[in-house]
Amino acid sequence: MTQPAAADGAVIAALGAYVPSRRMTNADWGQYVDTSDEWIRSRTGIEERRMAADDESTATLATRAAERCLAAGKFPADRIRWVLVSTDTPEMWNPATACFVQAAIGAVNAVALDVTGGCAGFVAALGLAEARARLGDPVLLIGCELLSKAMDWSDRSTAVLFGDGAGAALVLPGSEAEGLAVTSLIAGTDGRDADILGKPYGGTKNPLTAELVAAGHHHKIVMHGQYVFRNAVVHMTDAAHEALGRAGLTLADIAWVVPHQANQRILDAVAERLKVEAVKVYSNVARFANTGSASIGIALVEAIQRGLIEQGQRLLTVAFGSGFSWAAGVLTCTAVPPVEADLG
Ligand SMILES: CC(C)(COP(=O)(O)OP(=O)(O)OC[C@H]1O[C@@H](n2cnc3c(N)ncnc32)[C@H](O)[C@@H]1OP(=O)(O)O)[C@@H](O)C(=O)NCCC(=O)NCCS
Repeated sequence: MTQPAAADGAVIAALGAYVPSRRMTNADWGQYVDTSDEWIRSRTGIEERRMAADDESTATLATRAAERCLAAGKFPADRIRWVLVSTDTPEMWNPATACFVQAAIGAVNAVALDVTGGCAGFVAALGLAEARARLGDPVLLIGCELLSKAMDWSDRSTAVLFGDGAGAALVLPGSEAEGLAVTSLIAGTDGRDADILGKPYGGTKNPLTAELVAAGHHHKIVMHGQYVFRNAVVHMTDAAHEALGRAGLTLADIAWVVPHQANQRILDAVAERLKVEAVKVYSNVARFANTGSASIGIALVEAIQRGLIEQGQRLLTVAFGSGFSWAAGVLTCTAVPPVEADLG
């Protein structure tokens, strides 16, 4: 999508994250579907996930992450030119979730837009943010999903995989700040697999009817699990190599891989194909499950809070999701960016 960053390219200058306080364990899922901790843990590595409160919506989660990000970066909201929200679980059909966030944080001089890019949306939208930041615009990029209100709680093959959360990144011109510099960024889509993973009902192709709602289709997530699994591994591996190639780097140059937290078995398979030690692949999927386009922001924040990211390191981030879409980037840490979150 974009060429390797020049010295004055774009930089993630601060990060924020928010996860709801309500924890739901695998055992808790047993109240709703025929499942077990052993099944979920062995297939996915997930042990628990966070679930939004009744009075929380996508915009409220995104706003909390955004506020934390701006507070961490000590950056005034009225200097933001773009509020980009990557989500597949929007506040409502229209207007964009980003409009509600823009109002809530007081980003009065910003254009507010949503990106629907599946679980790869945050990294793909980082490419858009980078392009604007290179032109001098401060961008607030938020990945946010509230899947617990958008899924079928009686479908054990999808519902147990997901969690709610939000991650936000302040993306500034490299001439203005230090942080995680965008060294390379690539993204791609193969729309021939658009029907494999997604939420097909409620749009204009399949408008909701009383019959569809009675059948529970308003919440139905379609997923061909094994096909998604195989494609996730292949595309994440290829995307990682492409981003490294664009940067003129190899895996030997990478301190941490920070991938989309889809599922531990996918992460392990990608690590194996990339021939990186699994310990170099940051994972918190056990505690937060798959939070879609929020997962990489949350993972970056947590890795920084744990002191794992150091100045001079290079990180590789890579994501895959519905579309099928994928995205990957190399980030160079010119200074450890400030972060704010309560992920405990
Ligand atoms: C979803 C996934 C964990 C399913 O694992 P799997 O080994 O492929 O399991 P299958 O779909 O073949 O199902 C095997 C059996 O387990 C059952 N099953 C599904 N979910 C279950 C659950 N939560 N608990 C218990 N049993 C379950 C199925 O009904 C099926 O039963 P059957 O053989 O009687 O029909 C796996 O395919 C996967 O990880 N896919 C990728 C999903 C993903 O990451 N999506 C997001 C990408 S961004």
